[in-house]
Amino acid sequence: MIELRETTIKDRKNTYNWLYYSDFSDYLNKLEGITKETIPSYEYYKKEEYMDYFFDCSQPEKGRAYIIVCKNNGEIGDIGIISYTSFHLSDKITEFDIWLKGLDYTGHGFGTQAIQRLASLVKEMGYEKIIMRPSKHNKRAIKSYQKAGFVEEDLEPENYYRSEYVPKFSEGDYGPGGDVFMVLNL
Ligand SMILES: CC(C)(COP(=O)(O)OP(=O)(O)OC[C@H]1O[C@@H](n2cnc3c(N)ncnc32)[C@H](O)[C@@H]1OP(=O)(O)O)[C@@H](O)C(=O)NCCC(=O)NCCS
Repeated sequence: MIELRETTIKDRKNTYNWLYYSDFSDYLNKLEGITKETIPSYEYYKKEEYMDYFFDCSQPEKGRAYIIVCKNNGEIGDIGIISYTSFHLSDKITEFDIWLKGLDYTGHGFGTQAIQRLASLVKEMGYEKIIMRPSKHNKRAIKSYQKAGFVEEDLEPENYYRSEYVPKFSEGDYGPGGDVFMVLNL
């Protein structure tokens, strides 16, 4: 059983460590071409990747993060983060990003449940489409997103990205042809 809880600024450092210093980080970093020497600093993460508004709800129209909380056999604990980001996308479209805090937590359905929860929240907010862009090598992520109802599409950037962001974002995080463009119609 998982629940989503609204984040506070205090959660940010944990989410950074889960992303860049957990037991799946080497694998994810390699997919993005990040080496031990080029792992983004926490300062960079705060300024350029996961800015304050994700954690303090100051600009929900741009994006918002949630901590995935697992309730299992009476035990409760934070096990990951999921967020939506919209500033770069056309009206009524948002993008999800998700990672759990370590490999032990993957493969139990928690990530898929978190995506389903956040999908119903953003639907209530008025969104009509969600996109996700995993690496084509990240089979576990692709499978999870499929289970949540996402389907692969050919990307037509101008149908999704605001025109000023097409050059920056249309290629995705993994270089040309490196990702799978997936869409959930709400
Ligand atoms: C991606 C992620 C959020 C998915 O959440 P999850 O809780 O692990 O997902 P689920 O357990 O619901 O589903 C994973 C599915 O992938 C399958 N799977 C695992 N490894 C696989 C592989 N190598 N090839 C194919 N399928 C695989 C699992 O069997 C499971 O399917 P099943 O339920 O039919 O058995 C989580 O694995 C994660 O945080 N991974 C590390 C960070 C990451 O990759 N983030 C995404 C960046 S885009």
